[in-house]
Amino acid sequence: MMTGGGDCPGLNAAIRAITRIATHDYGYRVIGIHDGYEGLVEGRLRELTFADTRGILRVGGTILGSSNRTDLSHYVAPGESEPRDRRADAFETLREAGVVALIVIGGDGTMRLTYEFADGRLPVIGVPKTIDNDVHGTDYAIGFQTCITTVADAIDKLHTTAESHHRILLLEVMGRHAGWVALHAGVAGGADVVLIPERSYSLDGIVDTIRRREDRGSRFTIGVVAEGVQSPSGEMVYRARDGASHSWRLGGVCDQLAVSLADRTGSEVRSISLGHIQRGGSPVVADRLLATVLGAAAVEAVHQRQNGVMVGVDGERVQYTSLDQVAAGPRVVPQDHALLRAAHMMGMYVGESR
Ligand code: F6P
Repeated sequence: MMTGGGDCPGLNAAIRAITRIATHDYGYRVIGIHDGYEGLVEGRLRELTFADTRGILRVGGTILGSSNRTDLSHYVAPGESEPRDRRADAFETLREAGVVALIVIGGDGTMRLTYEFADGRLPVIGVPKTIDNDVHGTDYAIGFQTCITTVADAIDKLHTTAESHHRILLLEVMGRHAGWVALHAGVAGGADVVLIPERSYSLDGIVDTIRRREDRGSRFTIGVVAEGVQSPSGEMVYRARDGASHSWRLGGVCDQLAVSLADRTGSEVRSISLGHIQRGGSPVVADRLLATVLGAAAVEAVHQRQNGVMVGVDGERVQYTSLDQVAAGPRVVPQDHALLRAAHMMGMYVGESR
């Protein structure tokens, strides 16, 4: 098994469930691959036993490590500058280790990589994790509930200082393609403005909301903005470009918005970015339970000789979705989502549908 993509709370709970159920209930040997697909290419594998999983249920991150910039077909090895196709090497490593099935705990990017890599040649089972919650085939991915708890707590804390200083505070949260984090945490934290990548916004819409609040005697406003929100002219805002992978890192949309809002309103505006704090900490109960259910379902799927599916939840039920469906792209917030409608009805500014 491996954990791939950005880390999140609850990964260790899934590793624990998979290791214990696979070894104890089914008599399999479990091999942990370190650092996702990068570790597979570099041959960083080790056997996981019951003892390795002691005390990790409540610990964030992943004992296996992770990587979120690996492209097996264009792999740039440490110290090299030219990319090479390393898929055959990765397969050889698995064959040498006697691997009969691969369980990959990851987000939509890792699921896409797994779907392309396995190509039907090796049984693969996916387990969804991502704080973004944007994976098809499941209502919830591991890590999301902890993330929105952290963000809602931050919004609670911002309220007191916003109110004391009569300021507009803009909190930038993760969410590259989908606004699940901003929407859920924004509603739970009682934000006044929530901007998500699925919807456009106008400065006028935000200013109207601020003015309406002022008319009611509220001299502060809190906005929660997903990092992937496009500016009114249609651009996403990037902070940097990463080393060897050359992929663009999002960030800074709130900084830009703060300048525009300060100009328009004459108020003091501050922009805060929560960053990777959103991916840290001990998993909340809901994530521990989800990780255990999905870990158990993944081992069962291996035992039933299923192949090319991701386990997920639909309400209280476990479901299996083929990886090609999961790999099709991120799961975004539908325009008629109940929480979006409720937020709008509560007087929050949630932008406009495109
Ligand atoms: O995919 C999860 C995610 O948290 C995105 O929302 C965010 O853009 C990205 O990871 C940040 O990743 P990194 O750890 O590479 O900065």
